[in-house]
Amino acid sequence: MSIFRILTSSIGKKVLMAITGLLLSFFMVFHLFGNLFLFVSEQAFNSYVEKLNYFKPLVRVAEFFLLLFVFSHAYTGISLWWSNRKAKQKSGSYSKTNTSQAARTASITGSFVFIFLITHWATFWYKFNFEHPESYYQVVLGNEVGFGNPFFSVFYIVAIALLGYHLKHGFLSAGQTLGIKGTKYEKIYVGVSSLFWLWIPLGFISIPLWFGFIKQVVSP
Ligand code: HEM
Repeated sequence: MSIFRILTSSIGKKVLMAITGLLLSFFMVFHLFGNLFLFVSEQAFNSYVEKLNYFKPLVRVAEFFLLLFVFSHAYTGISLWWSNRKAKQKSGSYSKTNTSQAARTASITGSFVFIFLITHWATFWYKFNFEHPESYYQVVLGNEVGFGNPFFSVFYIVAIALLGYHLKHGFLSAGQTLGIKGTKYEKIYVGVSSLFWLWIPLGFISIPLWFGFIKQVVSP
């Protein structure tokens, strides 16, 4: 069977979705680590970003793959959702008993996360890469499109909470697709997955929560 036939088959799409989802989740660990410098000081965050800028060609390659993963994850998700819907219509089955709430809403939470990512890139990523600001810290915590704006902070809190909910189902589903369910590794997998769907999203949420509502940063 050609690689194209495998990737466009239903199981091929499920595997592709699981792998791209897991790779995107690993990225969140590095991203959160960098963002937590915001809690250290303005200088610490700015010098972290400057250091990353030093490796720009490598960052560009990573960004290209991230974008590819996001789009292939979304495309396979929509395509599987569509074939599922058609199959259900054909068989006349609308049963909700076998699926969790997180699974049934995965396409909705996934769409919201996609909109969040587009907004995220159109604001922070764009400003960081094309506006060359004096202080990157002030961009993230400023009061236009930063956490100095309460609407922006609420949007981030809601979007990241939905991302966590999306990942709760995502990890369970990926574990099933990749054959981890029912093996001796299942317990470890479930434990590790809570890091991604619960603790990392909570780490991200702490940023708009703290700087948006508890300790607002006043621009000079
Ligand atoms: C408080 C939360 C967050 C803050 C403050 C934040 C901040 C940033 C900033 C400043 C950039 C531009 C970095 C650069 O180009 O040097 C960026 C890029 C990016 N962010 Fe976030 N982010 C947050 C949450 C998230 C979440 C939850 C995701 C979802 C997985 C995410 C995914 C990305 C991606 C894929 C990029 C482009 C790759 C990159 O440039 O590193 N971010 N973020």
